[in-house]
Amino acid sequence: MCGIVGYIGPQPAAPLLLRGLEKLEYRGYDSAGLAVREDDKLRVIKTVGRLQDLRDILEHTAAPRGTLGIGHTRWATHGRPSDENAHPHTDCSGRIAVVHNGIIENYKELREWLVEDGHTFKSETDTETVAHLIESFYEGDLVAAVRKTIKRLEGSYALGVIHLDEPEVLVAARQDSPLIVGLGEGENFLASDIPAVLEHTRKVYILDDGEVARLTADKVEIIDATGSPVDKDVFEVAWDPVMAEKGGYDHFMIKEIYEQPKAVRDTLKGRVAEGRVVLDDVDLDSETAKKIKKIYITAAGTAYHAGLVGKYVIEKLARIPVEVDLSSEFRYRDLMIDEDCLTVVISQSGETADTLASLREAKRRGSRILAITNVVGSSVSRETHDVIYTWAGPEIAVASTKAYLTQLVSLYLLALYLAQERGTIDQGQLKAYLDSLQELPQGIQAVLDSEQTIAELAQEFKEKEDIFFIGRGLDYAVAMEGSLKLKEISYIHAEAYAAGELKHGTLALIVEGVPVFALATQTRLRDKMVSNMKEVKARDATIITVANRGDESIKEASDRVIYIPETEELFRPVLAVVPLQLFAYHAALARGCDVDKPRNLAKSVTVE
Ligand code: F6R
Repeated sequence: MCGIVGYIGPQPAAPLLLRGLEKLEYRGYDSAGLAVREDDKLRVIKTVGRLQDLRDILEHTAAPRGTLGIGHTRWATHGRPSDENAHPHTDCSGRIAVVHNGIIENYKELREWLVEDGHTFKSETDTETVAHLIESFYEGDLVAAVRKTIKRLEGSYALGVIHLDEPEVLVAARQDSPLIVGLGEGENFLASDIPAVLEHTRKVYILDDGEVARLTADKVEIIDATGSPVDKDVFEVAWDPVMAEKGGYDHFMIKEIYEQPKAVRDTLKGRVAEGRVVLDDVDLDSETAKKIKKIYITAAGTAYHAGLVGKYVIEKLARIPVEVDLSSEFRYRDLMIDEDCLTVVISQSGETADTLASLREAKRRGSRILAITNVVGSSVSRETHDVIYTWAGPEIAVASTKAYLTQLVSLYLLALYLAQERGTIDQGQLKAYLDSLQELPQGIQAVLDSEQTIAELAQEFKEKEDIFFIGRGLDYAVAMEGSLKLKEISYIHAEAYAAGELKHGTLALIVEGVPVFALATQTRLRDKMVSNMKEVKARDATIITVANRGDESIKEASDRVIYIPETEELFRPVLAVVPLQLFAYHAALARGCDVDKPRNLAKSVTVE
């Protein structure tokens, strides 16, 4: 996720901006830059790569001395990571500079309109449209031009803007993307997140949606969407700087678990319009979609578990046979892949060595490749034919949570898109599915609200050395993810089993007091599942069931029940996995494990 900083005051801005950006590094980024006013020009210095690369450039080119500036670390969305696409972006005259977090959804129309109006673009980004719009509206008042600009924007934004003609002013605006103003003595700061200003001040204004702020060295004025002044309360930050990087959470993992409603919302944003699925970066027209004879899905770990859900859903909705393979196996198989196949590659990082090798192997055999990845500019995103980006933002904890949920949502979108193009579902069904997809963020939030109960459960079972997860159909895929989450961060031995398979061997391990998570959300398989739970119960195991709200009678076969809100059956994995993520987190915490950095594991597995 991108980071924004801004400074206005008596000190040289560049070192302060760099320091602020350093404090936001934990969010992940692929390029960095700053714009500082110096005498009668704006110095814009930006580069792909790390902050150290930016520092190196500054050292070799004499750092700007000005005391007004904005800085940015970019997590690429529109346009690959490159020097040109790095922020700040400027207008045609080079007198206005803009940094932006978020996504301008209508940037294509705006860009076309601006180009017709004679503006020249230097980057592929959505952000550059903002700089040119401000230029076109500017009549001597930067706040007024920014206000006119944001009225034209659709999507989300946190903006920092400076103009050479107003050397004493820094303007900020926010809609659906966080932005704060740090209040200093004779100086003021702008940032997308509190850690960037904590070294200088603990007093901040937290901007609300629709607000525009005008910062000078001595004053901060805020107006709302109607132009009326806003009298804001000063927020006194109590966290220590390390906690602040985690937004007040104890660990990145729990922060990321709580970011899931937003991550899902962002992944859906702009992809559902007028009752249809719109996939901008996917070039599969109806004819090509109709010709697909078989789909191969390949991925590793959690992404593989998402693939298992994908198989079920694509087969059901789009009526195409799907095979799912671990990428470490797929790459060495004698694959029967050709140009009539579609290979779907899922990877959060886009850099997993086996997954990348699988992509290349499938491509070599003539298959079209569609990638689902979280990292723009990653190797997978560069080598694929089509891509669906998961807009989860950077995932820092080793254990994947929000990436998994957004992978599921991307697979749902893909399945519905294929079904729509192949005509395997009608308009009414499509609309019903899309409506329930859009309700998922509320459902996830409702499950998150039960964290305390799950934390207590984790306390109770923290000494156990074996925990089982069972389910049927989609619940089996969720069981696999729940089991992986638990073992990787709590080091409790966990295994997932297809519930119907227990009596073919594993039942021998089910003895008194062994905890068994029973996933029972699939209506069609519910009664079969209850029979399997009874087999387990008969061996005196302790059953913790994840079931649909309203299924009261399931209590008879369970020792505990965690309910998830009602949603479309195919989408239940999105809700059912959340209690398992929370359980894994709290069990690891209770056992004193290093939750964010489990032993022997790395976030990005770039070796075979
Ligand atoms: C588990 C986890 C891993 C990854 C796997 C693939 O919590 O994060 O199992 O899912 O290493 O990584 P990506 O998706 O980056 O290819």
